[in-house]
Amino acid sequence: MPVNDLQSRAAALRWFHTIDLGGGVVTNGIVDTAYRLARLDLPASLEGLTVLDIGAWDGFFSFECERRGAARVVAADYYSWHGPGWGTKAAFQLAREALGSAVEDVDIDVMDLSPERLGTFDVVLFLGVLYHLRHPLLALERVSSVTRDQLILETVIDMVGFRRPALAFYPDRELNDDPTNWWGPNVPAVRGMLTSVGFQQVRTATEVPGALHRAARAVYHRLRRRNTVAAAFRQDRAVFHAAKRSATFQARPRPGTAAGSG
Ligand SMILES: C[S@@+](CC[C@H](N)C(=O)[O-])C[C@H]1O[C@@H](n2cnc3c(N)ncnc32)[C@H](O)[C@@H]1O
Repeated sequence: MPVNDLQSRAAALRWFHTIDLGGGVVTNGIVDTAYRLARLDLPASLEGLTVLDIGAWDGFFSFECERRGAARVVAADYYSWHGPGWGTKAAFQLAREALGSAVEDVDIDVMDLSPERLGTFDVVLFLGVLYHLRHPLLALERVSSVTRDQLILETVIDMVGFRRPALAFYPDRELNDDPTNWWGPNVPAVRGMLTSVGFQQVRTATEVPGALHRAARAVYHRLRRRNTVAAAFRQDRAVFHAAKRSATFQARPRPGTAAGSG
């Protein structure tokens, strides 16, 4: 596709992901995908593996898995492709075309995932979706049912510092003024849920900042009017790696802290 055409077609779309489409064309995404990718601790090689990206949106992480050698990648979504007020699938489709990608797409809600419908995958990505779901434990059961081995989960966390497994409930717009956000689990809750749906090993791949760091960040957020002090203090984002086969990875905490809160 001529670069000028690509440039104008990309500019006409609304992008969630920042994606380098080649020829100097980079999409005007609203999330810093490079920063988010660095935090994922995605294996450098996915050679020969099958990958399912649940809630793929524009597909940045699906394309990245393909780039890392995955034999087959399926991008699954529904809301951001067809849901009212979310957007369309056009950005994903343009990115796939521009990148010459063979990533497959399937329109499906998390709650409809099943091995009968989709098969199972070596690696499943479940990034930025959990807190959007009304029934997170049930959703994780569905996610587990299509995961042959490894799940990489990224989510908002809340009630940071509270040691018992707990989830904050957002019946209205409490999280980021977004009515599609429902639950913010804390780290013990995510770990407990993953174990309860069949993952033998779970490790937290991001470090949750200590109280002093969170307090300083909360003050910064207040000054920038980005979030309330209380929310910025107790909320963060975290990445978890879960595996069904114990040999998949060694438990190794990885440094790195989140800048945003929810
Ligand atoms: C915050 S975006 C995250 C997009 C991408 N995974 C990432 O990490 O950049 C949330 C995604 O979850 C999807 N989503 C929300 N509810 C869903 C559901 N019930 N089933 C499937 N996808 C859902 C949305 O369509 C959207 O693509």
